[in-house]
This record gives sequence, structure tokens and C-alpha cells, in this order.
Amino acid sequence: MNQLTNAHIKEAAAYIREKTSMAPVIGLIMGSGLGVLGDHIEQPVVIPYHEIPHFPISTVEGHAGELVLGTLSGRTVVLMRGRFHMYEGYGPELTAFPVRVMKALGVASLLVTNAAGGINLAFASGNLMLISDHINLTGRNPLIGPNDDELGVRFPDMSEAYSKRLRSAAQEIAGAQGFTLQEGVYVGLTGPSYETPAEIRMLRALGADAVGMSTVAEVIAARHSGIEVVGISCITNMASGILDQPLSHEEVMETAERVKSQFLGLVKALIAVM
Ligand code: HPA
Repeated sequence: MNQLTNAHIKEAAAYIREKTSMAPVIGLIMGSGLGVLGDHIEQPVVIPYHEIPHFPISTVEGHAGELVLGTLSGRTVVLMRGRFHMYEGYGPELTAFPVRVMKALGVASLLVTNAAGGINLAFASGNLMLISDHINLTGRNPLIGPNDDELGVRFPDMSEAYSKRLRSAAQEIAGAQGFTLQEGVYVGLTGPSYETPAEIRMLRALGADAVGMSTVAEVIAARHSGIEVVGISCITNMASGILDQPLSHEEVMETAERVKSQFLGLVKALIAVM
């Protein structure tokens, strides 16, 4: 249940404000192998998660576990290098806690990125996919429990979870940069086991184009908070059963590394218009 309240959110935000006078307007959550964006932030102030009151600490390889505040593409940003996943044992409300803290710091728009398996057969490993919508198949929701009206309404609208404005901006940027930005529905599961081929066939029938183990809880909390959201998946592998080969975290990290420059180009340009 919601052990974390608005008082905890305010304490975490107050600690961050003690460390820097910067007032971020854009939040960035970086997926597996994509934390490199943090290295491009100017005048960075780095705060390890374990120093921030009530922050969980991320445990998975490829996720550093620190908040980076600074300037990127002329905007003041707060970047999460490493995020929290339900498969680490965190409830969805804990997974979404940093988004609440971002909102308290003044963040109005959020870019979420993740590594995902490609379900759509027109995709290939190494493609970037703009998230048009999501399906929450974690069986959980970060908003379950008493609602704090100061944070958002009891029954938040999810009909435009991923901003149309930012989606068309992202497509324009990809076009100008000369690459195809796939677009599709992201389905979020808890993991940590990868899916079976039968599960992937089911997910395809349900209308999913890519599958991953993150993002949905954070986006639900962001929408609850009134934050505008844009999401990009890095298709690090084709999903289970599509190619005749096993899936591995090494492949996920290798592909993320391979598409780094395209990813950075897109994201930096997108931040400028967020
Ligand atoms: N399934 C779930 N999560 C993932 C995958 C996948 O194939 N690839 C990267 N994250």
C-alpha cells in the first residue's frame, strides 16, 4: 500500500533543494544502458539515491542509481540514472516515488526511456520506438490506496497518457535526423523472467508492439500529477520466440550501446521542445 505520503515527497524534494538551487522543469528517466545521457548534462549536480530521504536504491546492473541535475539543450533537467523496477521487490508506489519528487521540484514534462523487446514483426533490434500508448499488465497500480487530492484526482484520465504534441515533435525530429522512429504500444510486465513465446503471441494479439519491465507505474503517477509524458523504447532484442535464440541482459546492454548516438541525437533535440 501507499506507505509513502506527500510528507515523504516534500522531505525528499527539500533535501535535493539543499544540494542545488536549480529548478528543473523536465524530468528524464533513463532505461537499461541508456544512462549515458547523464554524461551530457552541463554543470551537473549528482546526488546518489541512497542520500535522498525515502528514495529506494536500484539494484540492477546497468542502472547507476543517482539523480543528475543540470542543463541539457538549454533546459534545466533532473535525470534519473537508474530507476526502480517491480522485479526488484519494490511496489509500484515506490517505483513511482521519484516522479512525485520531480513534480514537487517543479517538473512539468517527463521523458521516459526503456529497453524493450520487439513484438511487432516489422521491428528490428536496434530500432527506437516512440511509445504511443501502454498496456499495464503488471497487475498493480501505483495509485491503489487512499488518494491524496493534493497530488491528483482519484480517477485520473489516461486517454492521452503519451502527449500527442511531444509525439509529433519526436517524429519530426527523427525525420529531420534521417532515421525511422517506430511507433507503437508498450506493454509493461513485472518480469524479471523474460516472456515465453506463447506469452509474446498473446501480447501481440492484445495489441502490443513492444514489451518491457518498467515505465507503466511511473507514467501512471506522472499523469496523476498532471505531468506531460513522452516515452521512447529502445528495441534491444526481438521478443521471445521470434528469432531462434535465447534472450539475455547482455544482448540488451549491447544493443543499447550500439544505438547510443541515434538515441542521444533524438533525445537532446526533443528536450529542447519539451
Ligand atoms: N522482454 C521484457 N523486457 C525486456 C526485453 C524483453 O524482451 N528486452 C528488454 N527488456
